[in-house]
Amino acid sequence: MSDQLFPVPEAIAAKAWVNEATYNAQYDRSLKDPEGFWREHGQRLDWIKPFTKVKDVSFKGDVHIRWFYDGTLNVAANCIDRHLEKRGNQTAIIWEGDDPNESRNITYKELHGEVGRMANLLKAQGVKKGDRVTIYLPMIPEAAYAMLACARIGAIHSVVFGGFSPDSLANRLQDCGSTCLITADEGLRGGKKVPLKKNADEALKASPSVKSVIVVKRTGSPIAMEAGRDVWYHEEAPKLSTDCPPEEMNAEDPLFILYTSGSTGKPKGVLHTTGGYLAYTSLTHQYVFDYQEGDVYWCTADVGWVTGHSYLLYGPLANGATTLMFEGVPNYPDNSRFWQVIDKHKVSIFYTAPTAIRALMREGEEPVKKTSRASLRILGSVGEPINPEAWLWYHRVVGNSKCPIVDTWWQTETGGILITPLPGAIAAKPGSATKPFFGVQPVLLDNDGKVLSGATEGSLCLADSWPGQMRTVYGDHQRFIETYFATFPGYYFSGDGCRRDEDGYYWITGRVDDVLNVSGHRMGTAEIESALVAHPKVAEAAVVGYPHDIKGQGIYAYVTLNAGETPTEELRKELVAWVRKEIGPIASPDLIQWAPGLPKTRSGKIMRRILRKIAANEHNALGDTSTLADPAVVGDLVDNRMNRG
Ligand code: WT7
Repeated sequence: MSDQLFPVPEAIAAKAWVNEATYNAQYDRSLKDPEGFWREHGQRLDWIKPFTKVKDVSFKGDVHIRWFYDGTLNVAANCIDRHLEKRGNQTAIIWEGDDPNESRNITYKELHGEVGRMANLLKAQGVKKGDRVTIYLPMIPEAAYAMLACARIGAIHSVVFGGFSPDSLANRLQDCGSTCLITADEGLRGGKKVPLKKNADEALKASPSVKSVIVVKRTGSPIAMEAGRDVWYHEEAPKLSTDCPPEEMNAEDPLFILYTSGSTGKPKGVLHTTGGYLAYTSLTHQYVFDYQEGDVYWCTADVGWVTGHSYLLYGPLANGATTLMFEGVPNYPDNSRFWQVIDKHKVSIFYTAPTAIRALMREGEEPVKKTSRASLRILGSVGEPINPEAWLWYHRVVGNSKCPIVDTWWQTETGGILITPLPGAIAAKPGSATKPFFGVQPVLLDNDGKVLSGATEGSLCLADSWPGQMRTVYGDHQRFIETYFATFPGYYFSGDGCRRDEDGYYWITGRVDDVLNVSGHRMGTAEIESALVAHPKVAEAAVVGYPHDIKGQGIYAYVTLNAGETPTEELRKELVAWVRKEIGPIASPDLIQWAPGLPKTRSGKIMRRILRKIAANEHNALGDTSTLADPAVVGDLVDNRMNRG
């Protein structure tokens, strides 16, 4: 922990949307009069039928959350059409390819045509308002066209990250009953090809709801096309009109589903709706990044994650911003790539993840220093706690000690940023997400559900709703209630632990549940365990996280083999490959320890607390093991623990 204070630079405060005085006044108002506050900020959108009702929320009983709920609007019209008059020729999206020689600027006018055409193609494929469309694409402009085209016709998109396996894709297609899939022949990342269509074909075998597949040509490698089901985007789109009238949607109609991992069971379909989501992402994008006219804004997240939805696409475009979309990776062709892209496109706001910063920090200052980065004004961080060492490096080396860093805490479920500095208003402490955004009421609770006050540490909950909050788990409202509102009745429980210091600054300490955060990617331990036990030689598995220098957390798996199976180095490799195939590369275990037995209570519950300690090399502090059914298993696990290297 660092208690160094980085004051707001005067030059930033002078021009910022929010400064210290206005932050305090507006924050107070947003809590005292949430209706008035959000009634005013709801006006930032173009409504077809203006809303009169602002908020209808209950965190108790059957839980319901509605915002601006008698208004109607269209998200694509708000992100494109309304900007045409003033910004038709302004760049909406800068696309930077994996290959440094490939990039393209797409104006708002061009975006309007491309989205209209994609929308008409969806309609021609039989997609109607309310239908689910799954998008399994690399970071190419068509991913943005596809999302906005769904929004335009009122279809609900579900974007699945291109790194997920055929099985993971199939589960997500089935869960929401998608009728249409949009994919590409292949993706391209760091010079390597990703076989998207091949994966999709495998997933489609198990996904009978999908009637049509739209395939974007990216690499041109030969792929299989199934007649009657698959169409090429580049063949069909040019036949269609670029004009597609936006569908009138209620503020509470679904906009998208995004699957995310929890502590138990299969990934949940987080459902976000139309009006509140867009108002919240657009307001936070403007204030948190202090977006000003002329800024070039770059969020490095993939559209497969919520950051790519809220702060690559919807928030920025709702604000008429210029947003950069990058197909590649930070270390290709070399470790200077991020900074070269910043210079090439004169990026002024840069938003990335701590894992990327730590990986680049390891390569030294030279790859950064050889670029100018003079255009940079604001830096952002998201996805996991940023360690002060990485924060300080980001600030000094990348930002030349002049750019404020916004460490933004939020979740797939929250839709937008909840705890964060505002660059012109809040002095930073490295490692702290600092203060709540307007309308956000964080509370820390102890294990008995008692609200803690002052400087303290506890479970991070939210006392009231904000417009960007998820509305339900798709198809399973009961699971929504149980996951987020049952632990601390009357509160939304984030699953994170948090400390509040004497200055009222919030410090996220990480998940308190069985969810891992590996390189800013969320993984449920239960998912990895069920992939492992699906292997014919595995009897039982328990997965925990351990501290990892680059990834934040690494994946440590304890595996018990079936009787008669021999633990070999080869089998270890086979299991890693197996999990990659079952879920995707992001779920690959870093370490697998053979466990003749797992520490269990007499009722058969695995005591992960003990496994976490062993994985973290803290085996001298295992705590009370007396309730174990067989305390002897612990000794063996400690003796044979894996070297974390
Ligand atoms: C979890 C949510 C937010 C979009 C990307 C991740 C962790 C996220 C921070 C931060 C400390 C953070 C939390 C949270 N997290 N941002 N600035 N400081 N922790 O979304 O996949 O839904 O993961 O990421 O543990 O619960 P997600």
